Amino acid sequence: MKQIIIAIDGYSSCGKGTLAKFVAQQLGYVFIDSGAMYRGLTLKLIENKIDISDLPAIENACKDLFFEFKLNQKKGSYELYVNGQNVEGSIRNLTVSNLVSEVAAISLVRKHLVRVQQAIGKNKGVVMDGRDIGTVVFPDADLKIFMTADSTVRAKRRFNELTKAGMEVSLTDVLANLKKRDYIDSNREDSPLQLKEDYKVLDNSNLSIEQQNSMAMKWVRESMEH
Ligand code: DC
Repeated sequence: MKQIIIAIDGYSSCGKGTLAKFVAQQLGYVFIDSGAMYRGLTLKLIENKIDISDLPAIENACKDLFFEFKLNQKKGSYELYVNGQNVEGSIRNLTVSNLVSEVAAISLVRKHLVRVQQAIGKNKGVVMDGRDIGTVVFPDADLKIFMTADSTVRAKRRFNELTKAGMEVSLTDVLANLKKRDYIDSNREDSPLQLKEDYKVLDNSNLSIEQQNSMAMKWVRESMEH
């Protein structure tokens, strides 16, 4: 079967990860959550008390960090390890979420992580989700999907996810964080989230997971035939 690269970009909490994971499982591909890498780096900056204005310290931190995605057999999904430590449990809390977009707007951070992401995808057979995957990381990706959904619908979904995981958060805070991240991600100077004409748009505000999955798989089949 032809090995392709699938880029899934879009706003925060649109379900990009859920879709990417599904598509990767269907094809036997590797799924990479590029946002997890920005989150992992942000977590390490917080832990090491590095201020986001201290660029030399951030550059050193980038050089010291080794990112790996390892398959969790039980969950059937890949989890991020930073320097050998599984960070999945701590990268999605609101402390990290509140800072990550600012960290992701720093050019030296992007340059470093984009290089790591490109190395992961060099053998193709990869589904990667993020904000700049189809524009910067893999501009020649065979299929580019842009995901979007109404912000209230997205905030409710994220709120349910976080409370289910035992975190105490309010819907108002989740919505505010989401809108702030959308704004920073779309307006930063370096590789902002942008809907270009070569993307297929998937608005899942009123779609079930099954409906969105079958829409995406139809595009996947079309891309493989080309
Ligand atoms: O997908 P996510 O919400 O976990 O991403 C966390 C943050 O990282 C998000 O605010 C934007 C940033 N990000 C990015 O700038 N580029 C990517 N390829 C992935 C994420």
